[in-house]
Amino acid sequence: MQIDVFTLFPEWFDWMRRPRHLANASGSDQLELRCFNYRDYTPLPAGQVDDAPYGGGAGMVLRVDVVAAALEAVYGTAAEDVKRDRHVVVLTPRGRTFSDAIVREYAQYERITLLSGRYEGFDGRVHRYLASDELSLGGFVLAGGETAAMAVIDAVGRRLPGALGNVDSLEHESFSPALEGRVEHLHFSRPAEFRGWAVPRVLLSGDHAAVARWRDEQSQQSPGPADGPRSE
Ligand SMILES: C[S@@+](CC[C@H](N)C(=O)[O-])C[C@H]1O[C@@H](n2cnc3c(N)ncnc32)[C@H](O)[C@@H]1O
Repeated sequence: MQIDVFTLFPEWFDWMRRPRHLANASGSDQLELRCFNYRDYTPLPAGQVDDAPYGGGAGMVLRVDVVAAALEAVYGTAAEDVKRDRHVVVLTPRGRTFSDAIVREYAQYERITLLSGRYEGFDGRVHRYLASDELSLGGFVLAGGETAAMAVIDAVGRRLPGALGNVDSLEHESFSPALEGRVEHLHFSRPAEFRGWAVPRVLLSGDHAAVARWRDEQSQQSPGPADGPRSE
């Protein structure tokens, strides 16, 4: 898989090559992460990428001609045609809310382009004519799309072959079909007791069926104060 990020802050993504699952995936040629700065391709003088919104209002808008120029320079094709070959995603609070189902969908694509915005966001024609999808990290507003792009790269990257040592972790984790979309149970490790806080006794019983039953019950609960050791 190749993931390209268009951003005003490409250097922010340098650290992303370090998390082990991403490094594993890139090391095995499963994930190539590339970052491009709109400013390097802008046809406007002095590195300008934004402009005032038509109709007035606060803030600046990332210009469509700047985004198109960046896409055309990198892919060598008309900007509106890039989405024929790649999944081109505008990161925006208007988009589909990122979820496990979308992670699984995205893990199937060979080529993804993430368009990260700043200021008031993109000119509407970027959404309408250049993108195949619009994605939101959730019902809140970030200062920029970079952290949203990082979340997408992290979640999709860890699903690629070779990213994780234990493939089983992918199949039995929160929101997976195996858990029917529920959250996973809490995990416990040594010490068995710490400051009077004991791990659930069933986990020390050696009774695998009872452990499986307990985990299943726990995974049916939503996260909150009723979960795990706090109720012990
Ligand atoms: C300050 S935001 C723009 C917010 C926009 N004016 C609005 O009210 O919806 C700047 C950029 O951050 C990114 N962004 C902000 N919130 C986001 C979210 N919830 N999901 C994904 N990207 C987001 C987008 O790329 C957006 O272009």
